[in-house]
Amino acid sequence: MEYKKKDLTGTKNLSAEEILFILETAKKLKEINSREIKKVPALKGKTIATVFFEASTRTKNSFEVAAKRLSADTISVTSSYSSTLKGETLLDTVHNIRSMKTDIFIIRHPLSGAAKFVADNIDTPVINAGDGTNEHPTQALLDILTIQEHKINLKGLNVAIIGDIDHSRVAKSDIWAMNKLGMNIKIFGPSTMIPANIEPFECSLASSISDAIRDADVIMMLRIQLERQSKLLLPSLREYANFFGLNNKNLSYAKKDAIIMHPGPINRGVELNSDVADSPQSVILNQVESGVAVRMAILYLLGIQKRRNK
Ligand code: CP
Repeated sequence: MEYKKKDLTGTKNLSAEEILFILETAKKLKEINSREIKKVPALKGKTIATVFFEASTRTKNSFEVAAKRLSADTISVTSSYSSTLKGETLLDTVHNIRSMKTDIFIIRHPLSGAAKFVADNIDTPVINAGDGTNEHPTQALLDILTIQEHKINLKGLNVAIIGDIDHSRVAKSDIWAMNKLGMNIKIFGPSTMIPANIEPFECSLASSISDAIRDADVIMMLRIQLERQSKLLLPSLREYANFFGLNNKNLSYAKKDAIIMHPGPINRGVELNSDVADSPQSVILNQVESGVAVRMAILYLLGIQKRRNK
């Protein structure tokens, strides 16, 4: 199997085979991160550009770590320190950076569709690191890799995704990918944060947090994204925590070996209490660890593809 697409813009357009192939590649590369010398020459001579027009701790840094582990060079463009402040367009920015002979672009942008737009207008591979409320494919891949490391089979697992589904690109990428792998998804959140039409997502809608969590193997809590809400969609954070937050009491509805996930950053005491965020069932930091391996895998697959096609 080869990864034949030029880009990774979402999980919606990936097949189950492509998802599993990226994950298998990540599993092979993950071992490098435990070595004393955490570096292989796979992408030596390649230059990878991160273009982040939104804040990031996990995604940006883990892409940079992943690139460096594969011996690639990295450059970083951020909205606050680039000529976009002077009116330059996103496409002009990437074309100028491309003229420096960069090989792969990693793009985070507040507008849904921005990464695909760049991918369609440039000859180099583009990886979507999160576009508006649309998709965050490497987050979904690292989530599934983390689940694979804790559960025997993906097929048939019950996954509860709880929170601001409508604004969450993580939820969308997870749902597209997990459905393809035969996982059963239940979503729950305030009605103002649930998409008007959930039919395309092929998941069920829970009526309460206990209903969402009941018999769950995986509980994925989402961050309340106040920055993406055009109007106030919840009365208060305290009320949100009461009705939609995960705590030790409602966790008891899940299977005893359920794992707790969150893409980060966590709003402690809102969507997740510290007693569960830091409990032995929490795999939140494992998700971050998996992120480096998944990003190494996709950089490797896109990087060697370009070399092979030359
Ligand atoms: N999960 C995630 O995308 O985190 P960052 O916003 O810190 O990259």
